[in-house]
Formats: sequence, C-alpha cells, structure tokens
Amino acid sequence: MAATFSVDPHRYVGRSEPFKRPKEFASFSYDKDHKFHLNDSSIKWYYPPHPLNQPLYIDLSKGFSSFVKHDDSQDEHLDSLLKTIAHHESETKSPIDANIVTWRGMMTKIMAAPFDDDGFEMNATSYRGTIFIEENHAFKVKRNAEQNANQSRRRGPIPPEVMQFWGYKFETLCTLPRPWGETSRDYIEGREDEIVNNNEQYCSVVRTGIGKTILCLGGEVDALWDSKPRQKGAPINWVELKTSAEIRSANDQFFFNKKLMKFWIQSFLLGVPKIIVGFRTRDGFLTKIEEMETMSIPNKMKSTPNAPWDGDVCINFAAGFLEWLRQTINDDGVWRIRRLPKSYEIEVFRIEEAGHGEIITDEFMNWRIKL
Ligand code: A3P
Ligand code: MG
Ligand code: MG
Repeated sequence: MAATFSVDPHRYVGRSEPFKRPKEFASFSYDKDHKFHLNDSSIKWYYPPHPLNQPLYIDLSKGFSSFVKHDDSQDEHLDSLLKTIAHHESETKSPIDANIVTWRGMMTKIMAAPFDDDGFEMNATSYRGTIFIEENHAFKVKRNAEQNANQSRRRGPIPPEVMQFWGYKFETLCTLPRPWGETSRDYIEGREDEIVNNNEQYCSVVRTGIGKTILCLGGEVDALWDSKPRQKGAPINWVELKTSAEIRSANDQFFFNKKLMKFWIQSFLLGVPKIIVGFRTRDGFLTKIEEMETMSIPNKMKSTPNAPWDGDVCINFAAGFLEWLRQTINDDGVWRIRRLPKSYEIEVFRIEEAGHGEIITDEFMNWRIKL
C-alpha cells in the first residue's frame, strides 16, 4: 500500500515556512569528455555577446551539426555527488548533517508539484539517518522520448533536438572559460563559431534547509557574474542562463510566467541570485537578453492578476512533504516516490525490502562505515 501526500495548492497557502540560504560547501566539474574532477575547472564567466538592450539577431541553430552532446542514456545515479560528499567528509572528519541528499533537479520537481502536472518517479533509500534520492532513470528515458515525439507532432518544422540545442548554444555565446581579462579577444569575438559541448559542467554542492529539513543538494550552475569569494559559504554571484520564446501576446506572457516558476525554483535551491533570459524568435534567433533578480520573481507573481503559481505555496508544500517523507521512509530497502501525470498526490511505496539498490555506491558506504 502506498502512502500518499496531497499536492493541492490550496492546502499550503499562507506565510512561507523558514528556509536557509544555500551555502556551497563543495563542488566538482565534468570536463569536455564528461570525466569527473574534484575541482572548479569547468566554471564559466558570464559575458554577453553584445551590450544589453541593443538589437540582436544571432542564429542559435548555428553549429548544431557539430554539437558534442552528452550521452544521457547512462544512469549516473548519485555517484558524482557522493564522491564529492565523501571527499568533503574526509577533510572535515565528520559526516554531513543533511536529512536528505539529492540532485537539485529532484527538489525542483517536488517544489513545483502543486502547480505543475508533470509526472515523476524517483528512488529513495535511507542510510545512517540520511535519505538519498535519485531519479528513476528508466522513467526519465521513456518520458523524454514521449515528450520529443509529442513536440515533433505539435510544433511543426523544427526538430526537438535542435530546439534543445538552442539553450546550450546560448550558454556558449554568453560565457567565457576564463575571466574576461584572461580571455583573448579572438575567443570573445569568435564565440558564434565555438563548438557547443554539454559534457562540460560545473556543479555546486550546497547545504540548505526548507522548514525543518536540512538538505544537501548538488546541481549545475551556468556561470559566475564576477568571481568566487574566497570565504567558504559566502554568497556567490552565480547566474543561470535560460532561453525562451519572445513574448508577443497575453497568451505568450502567461506561458512565460508559468516557465518562470521552474527558473525561480531551480535558482532559489542553489542560491543563484540572477537569471539571464535570452529571448528568441520561434525559429531560433536570439533577439534580446534580459537580466532578472531571482528573489524578485515570486513578488512579481504576487502582483500579477491570475498568476499561475505562488512561491510561498511551493516552499510550504516542500517543507510539509519533506517532513512527511522522512517519517514515511522508516525502514530498510528501496522506496519509490511517484507522481502520476495530473495526479493530485505523490505516492511513496517500497519496491525492494532490503539493500540500497544502486542509489548509494559501495565506495560511499565503505567510506561512511569508517567515520
Ligand atoms: P533552456 O532552459 O534555455 O531551454 P539549464 O538551463 O538547466 O542550465 O539547461 C540548459 C539547457 O539544457 C536548456 O536550455 C535546454 O536546452 C536543455 N534542457 C535542460 N533541461 C531539459 C529538459 N528537462 N528537457 C529538455 N531539455 C532540457
Ligand atoms: Mg545549465
Ligand atoms: Mg541554464
């Protein structure tokens, strides 16, 4: 029998539960071949292609044929996050204090659930007082294939792979692999021809809290605004880069407002203070770049008539759900966290009576036993 938790937004209206500002305590990089490194080597610096508010017309499809695309058919579980946590624990000689460890993407799905009717499936297991949550990879592969097929049917001439490329192309156009002063003019001016490679990523690992639950989250951050402060835990001026279709009608504005919820949650969870939106034509030409303060987005929604979401509800729902989840996953084995598309509840049930599935690596368990 599954335990269930309602996602009905009406239940979570009210002043927001407390949340802790996310603090980065560790990080790692994937290089151009998606090889893991315990360092900051894949950080990028934000530097837009032209001064803001000037007319632009840049082809975001250019270079699609040479796109070096990450092979996401492999299930990477939580492996890189666990390696990074184990390294941190070896330095501090004590286990981290999080109640829950997961990728930022999983928390984004949970926080968005009251206003988003997408389905999701995750696997969870408890180990030494911490719950580890991964995405159910088989579900993700199936869902992506279905979404691509739907998109091809609905949107007409542009293949979904090309539309996905636009987002990565925008990142390449707007970032530098070194700070501006250390980058050649040739690189800066030649970025339209740079090969786009999404194997490369910098991931920030933060400690944060929602309601009574302490979380350790790992997630990709796109670029730095200026530089990383020397002091650990100090706020970092990260920027999140996003693309979106130009807003030409009230209907477009409504859909953009809906998208803003995911932009906000994703950035809020890692403490990313600024979101840079590249607006594009329907056929993928970048025409305008706009900067937004992450913190201002939920307030802007509050003053929007018929707003499609409410940030306080997202936070209150997540606070309640996480507390409930910690009581529900009260035994050994592997548990499934599932939300069926359009369903009004999240279900949690056990799928394996013992062990930790492939959620936690042996390497990590052996490491923890020593602590
Ligand atoms: P856009 O969000 O600008 O479309 P992120 O913004 O999270 O750093 O991701 C970079 C790009 O990866 C996205 O750019 C999009 O092209 C692609 N992407 C991210 N998540 C995706 C998803 N769930 N499905 C399809 N594409 C995705
Ligand atoms: Mg990114
Ligand atoms: Mg981005």
